[in-house]
Amino acid sequence: MRITFENKVALVTGAAMGMGLATAQMFAEAGASVVMADFDEGALGRATAELEAAGHEVLGVRCDVSDEGEVAAMVRRTVDTFGRLDAAFNNAGIQIPSNDVVDVPDTDYERVMAVNLRGVWNCMKAELRQMQAQGSGAIVNCSSIGGLIGNPGLAAYHATKYGVIGMTQSAALENAPRGIRLNAVCPGTIDTPMVAKMLKEQPEAMDVIMGKQPNKRLGRPEEVAAAVLFLCSDAASFILGAALPVDGGYTA
Ligand code: NAI
Repeated sequence: MRITFENKVALVTGAAMGMGLATAQMFAEAGASVVMADFDEGALGRATAELEAAGHEVLGVRCDVSDEGEVAAMVRRTVDTFGRLDAAFNNAGIQIPSNDVVDVPDTDYERVMAVNLRGVWNCMKAELRQMQAQGSGAIVNCSSIGGLIGNPGLAAYHATKYGVIGMTQSAALENAPRGIRLNAVCPGTIDTPMVAKMLKEQPEAMDVIMGKQPNKRLGRPEEVAAAVLFLCSDAASFILGAALPVDGGYTA
């Protein structure tokens, strides 16, 4: 079966760089009209220009996923522009500095909850309203290997990623009878600007990661994008409520 998104509309959050950009690109190459949402206006402008220059149909929307009103407006603009919403990758997320639980500043805790957990919640809610009206659609939420196993120093981040799997599975069960599928992806360590920043601050982390990484390399953003397109496609028509590791065997 060939995976195609011709005549389909796909939405990606955090689409200005990293995995979000790779996924937006892959949706566009598969024929979709793509909405690229991000709160970094400069990076978003560059990313949408790149896809447009390649001849793809894209709409860039500045949106902070932690703001429910902005997310609702972003989904409204999607439907006003392209008429429907078939696939969504709720990917926007942040990392906070590594700290023992007792040392995590409340502001860091609140920030990571607001973007990684509330952000996915806001997006899922607005997208589901549209998909329920259509009676079809597929959503992939971005969790992490941090939603499957723990890691010292990152308890708050991990709480958000475990939470994403919980909300995905419950919403998948609610929406299965309506013809809407929800799944999560759990990327391992992927070579994106987020990881580049972390490795710049703590170069020693690379040895720790590689010590546990079965295939001894970082993942590529397009390897996550390929899993997202599969889960959003008709090829995955019997898959819902899954939390798919894309981690080079890290959690195996
Ligand atoms: P990245 O930092 O390279 O890109 C994230 C994008 O999200 C940026 O364009 C940023 O501007 C945008 N963004 C951040 N906060 C936002 C907000 N409030 N509203 C709208 N846009 C916002 O990150 P990367 O590595 O591509 O990660 C994407 C997702 O994958 C995140 O949810 C992250 O937690 C998750 N993840 C990343 C892993 C990795 O190794 N890179 C591993 C597992 C999960």
